[in-house]
Amino acid sequence: MIDVNTKKLGLIGYPLGHSISPLLHNSAFKQMALNYVYLAFQIKPEELVQGIKGIKALDIKGVNVTIPYKKKVMPFLKEIDDIAQKIGAVNTLVNKNGNFYGYNTDAYGFKKMLNQDGNFYIENKKALIIGAGGASRAVGIVLCENDIDELYIINRTEAKAKKLADEWKEKYAEVKITSGGLDKNFYNPFLKDMDLIVDTTSVGMEPKADVDPVIVADKFHSNMLVVDLVYNPPETTILKAAQKRGAETINGLNMLLYQAEKSFELWTGKSPDLENWFNLVKTEFLNEE
Ligand code: ATR
Repeated sequence: MIDVNTKKLGLIGYPLGHSISPLLHNSAFKQMALNYVYLAFQIKPEELVQGIKGIKALDIKGVNVTIPYKKKVMPFLKEIDDIAQKIGAVNTLVNKNGNFYGYNTDAYGFKKMLNQDGNFYIENKKALIIGAGGASRAVGIVLCENDIDELYIINRTEAKAKKLADEWKEKYAEVKITSGGLDKNFYNPFLKDMDLIVDTTSVGMEPKADVDPVIVADKFHSNMLVVDLVYNPPETTILKAAQKRGAETINGLNMLLYQAEKSFELWTGKSPDLENWFNLVKTEFLNEE
């Protein structure tokens, strides 16, 4: 029951479309009898500064941060953890006595998904990232931080891939990093050597699920893991094509749950029941039994 002692948490972003976070966090609070509530706060871009002051004034204990504020909130924080700093984006704030601490739990979620669901360990592997947006930035940093051996990044707008590759090369001189466009002649020759492919683009996401994969999958093979950060539909066309070639596949749903798990732990000091979340998502969100 909500009372005077209820601790407030939430999500800030603009516009806030569908988000699974309120469902996850509130159900865990209920299950664990924690006196917290998680709400969605849509803050208009011109009101971001007042919004952040409001979080402090109303003693909201923490928030998730989503598009377009993952970078914009950074100047307001007292401390930013190392990986968030390197990615240049935070998705979780913790309010301690009026000071904000920033984290990037997407990074944690991505790594945990590779390890736990893919039985994949990054060190000394070779990977290809498709896409050069915000998600790609986080994925690249996690791979480089965990000693990937070789990294390729390709993107429809080649210049954006090159820009990210140049940034990473500067930070991680020991990783061999190459960028390019979505050109089959460019990527086909090295696909045979890849241990991991991560599609960070929105290609194949509902409502436009029935499209060709963002790259041609002819050279995918059975010794690779293919990850699509999209989870709706659960099997995008690139994952289906990868399975046909015998590759292991994972969609982005568990990453989403793991980032929420980490945020939950940062706010409450307790761990949510992930099994419960898996079931909840299956029944309430993906409409499966
Ligand atoms: P996110 O934060 O989820 O990464 P984003 O920053 O908008 O989202 O990035 C979207 C990525 O998907 C970009 O790499 C984009 O390519 P461009 O940089 O060329 O725009 C990629 N993308 C989106 N639609 C695409 C399509 N139809 N074909 C190929 N790439 C696409």
